[in-house]
Amino acid sequence: MLKKTERFQLDSGMEETQLIHSEAIKRAAAYLRQGKLVAFPTETVYGLGAIATSRDSVAKIYEAKGRPSDNPLIIHIGKKEQLAQWVRRFPENAQKLAEKFWPGPLTMVLPHRDNLAENVTAGLSTVAVRMPDHPVALALLNEVGIPVAAPSANRSGKPSPTTAEHVLNDLDGRIDGILDGGPTGIGVESTVVDVSGEIPLLLRPGGITLEQLQETLGEVRVDPGLTDASQTPRSPGMKYRHYAPQGEMWLVKGNPEAVISYIQQQVQEAVKNGKRVGVLTTEENQGKYQQADCVIAVGSRRHPASVARRLYGALRRFDEQKVDVIFAEAFPEQGLFASVMNRMKKAASGNMVEV
Ligand code: TXA
Ligand code: MG
Repeated sequence: MLKKTERFQLDSGMEETQLIHSEAIKRAAAYLRQGKLVAFPTETVYGLGAIATSRDSVAKIYEAKGRPSDNPLIIHIGKKEQLAQWVRRFPENAQKLAEKFWPGPLTMVLPHRDNLAENVTAGLSTVAVRMPDHPVALALLNEVGIPVAAPSANRSGKPSPTTAEHVLNDLDGRIDGILDGGPTGIGVESTVVDVSGEIPLLLRPGGITLEQLQETLGEVRVDPGLTDASQTPRSPGMKYRHYAPQGEMWLVKGNPEAVISYIQQQVQEAVKNGKRVGVLTTEENQGKYQQADCVIAVGSRRHPASVARRLYGALRRFDEQKVDVIFAEAFPEQGLFASVMNRMKKAASGNMVEV
């Protein structure tokens, strides 16, 4: 059954104090407290919020997204001091990370106190927590005062939304409200790290790089399930096909010249076979694929952040353009590009050629 999705209007360029006192934030917060679903911007992607203490509200998130019930949610807090009320332990590693990266694109998995709705954590003994670095998100969270559970605000299996328009394309009529804070900055989701054990374990690469975590903590393990297809990832969400465009996607890896000429050949072939062809590239190589139907350059190879910011929007655009097949240039798997590549591999369901 469709409902009206209320648009809570923010004036652009509002300062933090104006936000805190704005009608939009107050109304959106009241909606959440009443148990309704409200989408809101964070610095990574838009989230779909519900108060984390209400089983019924949280159940609506799973329903609106079509999300599998075994995939737990991240709770969002507006102040670090709130954490102690919900987590059982806050180990030294976690304190160091919070000190360095909160507010920011880092989610920590910690043992919880059993006072959150059980479906937030899908029955696990740990909960994923983060304090986002976005003025609208922080104003909202602090107005609500209790943690807000929020997965990315897309239909399950679609790329995460980086604009309010993306959210509405997926969820208009399925959620109660949305706060439009303009395009998000980082563009890929937060990094998820399990700090409940002795050695920190990276569960999902994201806005904070593995290198940054290592710099702060020393040893950090990477969940083998992230790279080895024969092992089940420790983070439930990482096992699903995700971020997927409707067209078949191929990642092409190798020396830059060889990658370009391979994609050129493939484009020619596919066009000859009557397919609509998309190419995902960067500014540097944008002009190389004249024969393709839809060429999207996501930022520059010299600026990983510019690629991360535009990746999901590009995947959605290929869908709008109804391309049958997408060829994408791979990136070196370091720094933020490691997170970008993680998402691109998922979008391509593992289709990769090395040339
Ligand atoms: O940037 C982000 O993290 C965005 C914004 C809205 O904050 N949120 C987001 O949420 O990406 P979601 O639900 O799309 O991804 C949460 C990930 C999933 O892979 C889930 O399996 C994992 O975190 N997760 C949640 N709780 C967990 C837990 N207790 N143990 C291990 N993984 C957990
Ligand atoms: Mg998601």
